[in-house]
Amino acid sequence: MVTAADSGTYALGSLTVRRLGFGAMRLTGRWDSTGAVPSRDRAIAVLRRAVELGVNHIDTAAFYFSATRSANELINTALAPYPDDLVIATKVGPGRDYAGRWLHDIGPDRLRAQVEENLRQLGRDHLDLVNYRRTDSTHPVADHVAALAALREAGTIREIGVSGVDRAELAEARAVAPVVCVQNRYGLGARDADEDALVTHCGEQGIAYVPFFAIAGPGGRAGATVTDTPGVREVADAVGATPAQVRLAWTLHRGPQVLAIPGTSDPDHLTANVAAGALRLSAAQLSRLDGSDEVD
Ligand SMILES: NC(=O)c1ccc[n+]([C@@H]2O[C@H](COP(=O)([O-])OP(=O)(O)OC[C@H]3O[C@@H](n4cnc5c(N)ncnc54)[C@H](OP(=O)(O)O)[C@@H]3O)[C@@H](O)[C@H]2O)c1
Repeated sequence: MVTAADSGTYALGSLTVRRLGFGAMRLTGRWDSTGAVPSRDRAIAVLRRAVELGVNHIDTAAFYFSATRSANELINTALAPYPDDLVIATKVGPGRDYAGRWLHDIGPDRLRAQVEENLRQLGRDHLDLVNYRRTDSTHPVADHVAALAALREAGTIREIGVSGVDRAELAEARAVAPVVCVQNRYGLGARDADEDALVTHCGEQGIAYVPFFAIAGPGGRAGATVTDTPGVREVADAVGATPAQVRLAWTLHRGPQVLAIPGTSDPDHLTANVAAGALRLSAAQLSRLDGSDEVD
């Protein structure tokens, strides 16, 4: 049986994870509470199965909630007491109020409260990895990262990452504290030359690069809704995999620093995604995929 161990490992600072992880965003159903909501049993089973399959890096956030589901609460219910090697990555910066409305202009002074909200929901005394997710530019990145660095010093969080940043913002963050990962949108059909360069830069600096929407690609938050290019379909047929698996495998082939966090509430998709961590693509297949994708 293929497990996440077949994808290899990478160090997030002091925390080593298997490269094939899991994103919890899709467990709650749509945040505007339209459409189907995965049953609690199904969501909990998917989380437990992910860990059984060797996944030890789960991405979540306190703002991943719909009317009746919270990703953090599902993780707590499914997995506590947590395995020693499990790394739960959360993100702070923007948030959502109780009605689900986005709160974007969150100042550095409010990050502690967001970290504590995650602690309560996950039922932990510390957070393994906290990403500062940047969606506004009214405060310097450095101020937010400094706030997280203080929490790291206090032992409340173990490691710091950043999300939604460009190379200059990453440098600004690193001037304040060690940064172990960058979590940005990246995938076939959803990348540009600057982001390609940032992936490479992270590898050179020993920083993990964690793409989101790697399967969804141009579909983004709407999910895997976009028709795959002929290149993706051809390579999928050649290796006996699905287009979603090829998309994931392509990101992992960008370098050992790339970690996958595919999101799903479907147990079969979970198994397929873990299997994608073991998929090996040839140079010719990678070049076909690169060529089938428009890079600005
Ligand atoms: N830092 C940030 O700003 C940020 C933003 C967005 C997301 N994230 C994180 O990144 C994670 C990944 O993003 P994501 O979940 O939106 O996108 P994704 O992993 O690229 O794709 C998820 C979509 O693909 C489908 N899918 C998953 N596995 C599949 C498979 N094997 N075959 C066919 N379809 C498949 C899912 O539907 P099914 O449920 O039907 O499988 C869903 O529609 C999130 O879960 C979240 O933890 C971070």
